[in-house]
Amino acid sequence: MKLLAYRAHVMLVSALVAVHESRKEHDSNFLPTAINALDLGCGTGLLADALEKTELQFQNLTCIDISQEMLKRARSKPTYTQFIEGDIASSLRSLQQQTYDLVVAADVLPYLARLDDIMERAHKALVPGGIFTFTVEALEAHLPLPYASSRSDDHVEIDAGDPLDQEIHTKGWAILSNGRVAHERAYVDRLARKFKFLVEAVGDGPIRWQRGNQVEGHVFVLKKV
Ligand SMILES: C[S@@+](CC[C@H](N)C(=O)[O-])C[C@H]1O[C@@H](n2cnc3c(N)ncnc32)[C@H](O)[C@@H]1O
Repeated sequence: MKLLAYRAHVMLVSALVAVHESRKEHDSNFLPTAINALDLGCGTGLLADALEKTELQFQNLTCIDISQEMLKRARSKPTYTQFIEGDIASSLRSLQQQTYDLVVAADVLPYLARLDDIMERAHKALVPGGIFTFTVEALEAHLPLPYASSRSDDHVEIDAGDPLDQEIHTKGWAILSNGRVAHERAYVDRLARKFKFLVEAVGDGPIRWQRGNQVEGHVFVLKKV
């Protein structure tokens, strides 16, 4: 069995396509026929492969990754047109505002703690009506009941009933023992409202298999109001 198997890109593309299918007939502005898009934390380009299999057409798909090695591998994907090596937050700051129809981020937000900066930057980068779709690792899967019915190996290092539990719930994210960050669905919902995004869809499901364990995540499809 593989030690690490990524699923976030599949979950993200399925959610995006489902929303696109249900909206396109009634909302002609819901993603243009030639999409200008940005892939945050593209890695080897799994998203590009998955997007290529959909009916969505891209005039530009710019990818950003902090790792030179990952970008080198992403360069082999024909769907990508531009490559930016750097941190997603600072790269978003330097890009022209109100430019992109679509910003995607599969399994990269678990590398960030607070998400307000990235939400604000993504909102600025998008054209009005633009779509920001991303996955997060589900914090609920790591907390005691009533947030979830199971715990995974990479648990939050707290005891059930610990006052920290409430603190984490209030904060909306926590750094896990493996160094990744899990985010609560309600936290992302709050930020979506704060930065004037409409939540088009939210889904739950496995974003990764890690050491034989399924890692639960949320996928969000947000529309810039
Ligand atoms: C788990 S991989 C996901 C890759 C890809 N999106 C996918 O779904 O297969 C996370 C990627 O995010 C990149 N990354 C992590 N933190 C980053 C940051 N702050 N800025 C840019 N890229 C980052 C890593 O180099 C890695 O390629």
